[in-house]
Amino acid sequence: MSLLQRLKTETRPHHERTEAAVRLMEPGLTPGDYRRHLEALYGFYVPLEGELSARLTEAVPALRTHERWKVPLLEEDLRALGHDAASLAQLPRCPHLPPLSGVPEALGCFYVLEGSTLGGQLILRHLKRHFADASVGDFAFFRAYGEEVGPRWRAFGQALTDAAAQAASADFDARTVKGAQDTFDAFGTWLLRETGHASLRA
Ligand code: HEM
Repeated sequence: MSLLQRLKTETRPHHERTEAAVRLMEPGLTPGDYRRHLEALYGFYVPLEGELSARLTEAVPALRTHERWKVPLLEEDLRALGHDAASLAQLPRCPHLPPLSGVPEALGCFYVLEGSTLGGQLILRHLKRHFADASVGDFAFFRAYGEEVGPRWRAFGQALTDAAAQAASADFDARTVKGAQDTFDAFGTWLLRETGHASLRA
């Protein structure tokens, strides 16, 4: 089984748990709930993309990390919902990031963030319909690479496959899978903590 197939298979239960923590498909979703979700994403992505950049930008240039960061997209959406530089700086940051001790763990983590652009297309279609009459911005984060989502995902997969082939070690692959599982879990826990009580807040 290729590393990409392993990642998909061995993180499936983690994906399902994290997916269940996403409240964006609920029929009563308000612009405030959507904003809260983006704020939680921001608190996760800002520190995590910093770690990923330190681990991967020079180590695996084929990833073209600088073309993949989502923080600018989140900022665009959050500004459309009323934030400015000062209020963004005050948003809480996730204190329990997945441990990314080396390149393989970071690659597993990046797999999760990049893969979420696929499910993101489904969420985008839903949000566009749900907020058709509301002014909530242009969904930059969920739009992600637009028409290029498929090609960018395949390019990511190729860069990951090549990095693993170069390492050619079972340990590298196992650490990559663990990095992905830990990322899903940390993300799900943080989302639940930050957005899990939407109905109580309303
Ligand atoms: C309501 C929430 C979500 C839904 C409905 C959803 C749905 C999906 C769907 C349908 C796919 C397959 C797309 C395809 O093969 O073209 C997918 C793939 C994926 N999603 Fe999600 N997703 C959700 C949330 C998330 C989140 C929050 C993350 C990460 C933090 C995530 C990470 C991934 C990854 C890594 C893949 C790639 C799996 C693979 O092919 O190896 N998803 N998702």
